[in-house]
Amino acid sequence: MTLDTARIKQDFPVLERRIDGERLVYLDSANSSQKPRHVIRAMTEFMEHSYAPVNRSSYRLAAESNDAYEGARQRLQRFINAPRAHEVIFTKNATEALNLIVQSWGRAHLHSGDAVVLTHMEHHANIVPWQMLQAERGIEIRSVPLTDDGQLDLSNLDRLLDGAKAFSFTAMSNVLGTVTPIRRLTDAAHASGAIAIVDGCQSVPHLSTDVQAMGADFLAFSSHKMCGPTGVGVLWGRESLLDAMPPFLGGGNMISDVRLDGFDTAELPAKFEAGTPPIIEVVGLGAAVEYLQGIGMDAVRQHEMELAGYALRTLRDRFGDDIRIFGPDNVEVRGATFSFEFRGIHPHDVSQVLDQRNVCVRAGHHCAKPLMRVLGTPATTRASFYIYNDERDADALADALDSASDIFGF
Ligand SMILES: Cc1ncc(COP(=O)(O)O)c(C=O)c1O
Repeated sequence: MTLDTARIKQDFPVLERRIDGERLVYLDSANSSQKPRHVIRAMTEFMEHSYAPVNRSSYRLAAESNDAYEGARQRLQRFINAPRAHEVIFTKNATEALNLIVQSWGRAHLHSGDAVVLTHMEHHANIVPWQMLQAERGIEIRSVPLTDDGQLDLSNLDRLLDGAKAFSFTAMSNVLGTVTPIRRLTDAAHASGAIAIVDGCQSVPHLSTDVQAMGADFLAFSSHKMCGPTGVGVLWGRESLLDAMPPFLGGGNMISDVRLDGFDTAELPAKFEAGTPPIIEVVGLGAAVEYLQGIGMDAVRQHEMELAGYALRTLRDRFGDDIRIFGPDNVEVRGATFSFEFRGIHPHDVSQVLDQRNVCVRAGHHCAKPLMRVLGTPATTRASFYIYNDERDADALADALDSASDIFGF
């Protein structure tokens, strides 16, 4: 395989754990990834040696802390090829980044009858904020449907986008693993006069990201799915859009002046970073990006395509029609995230049996209930692979599914 997973596994302390003497097979990275030593050390060292509040105090320790915080922003800028560092805004998570777009850009630009286009494969974080605005403003929400193999059905895209003000879509489905044709979608949005918002939660950890090549206007993603800590997410936005938007949250740091009768907002990025930011977590995210850059995002993608192909073949060979894997077969248009139904056994039962074999998967609706309705199932079992997974892990999943068959009498 492209990546030396035996070596990479050693970077992740939790993967050294044995439960009942057996190794851990972590297949829940679409939910949240594990953390490498490099990130753990960077955060610990920062707390032990350089921690101080940022943007407030002028002593040397605070300057050092500020450099670490802003250094992480610059690293993120290079990682996603953003034109300017101050277009990179740190939020609490991707959910907050998407809410920021809807509450700030959306409330400034969308009025009764204006249309926003989503897709049938969105996470709730890219549905509910729009529905909240719909309740307040009476906007129209349209959705791009799916093909039978879980890709976007673009046959009516131009009609759906006609007159729309925004097209907000995921770059990779957290349920189906489908990688969407980002450039085609952003071009179509712009051709209709809509802005293009990309939910990069599942793509940024797995594919190389270039916001300029994507043609996106906004990109949202979370640190905790890309080897970084929880508590921090990223919103990237075009400078011209961010500059024209009103602040999202009010408080310290996002102002240039406050009087008893009003306030003036600070410049970017401070304008959208109200209150004490997640300083330690941002440093950890910077270290996570450094770690991923050390591996190389093209190698990450290559590895996951190989692994996706292997897992698909293994599961199909072993279980044939007894397993229904949602999403495309072609690894060129999918990541290594698999949602499946297995022999009619309830996903929660499947995941419980898998857990007895130390195979960690997620069961449920994966925060994509509208998609579950389209798929005609209330829940699936989901196995999601990352840089520290290999063929042995796919085999362990198949072996554990065999145990589930035995337990449930197949
Ligand atoms: C596609 C997608 N969008 C948004 C989110 C929300 O991310 P977070 O919970 O980190 O805010 C997720 C998390 O599962 C996701 O997979």
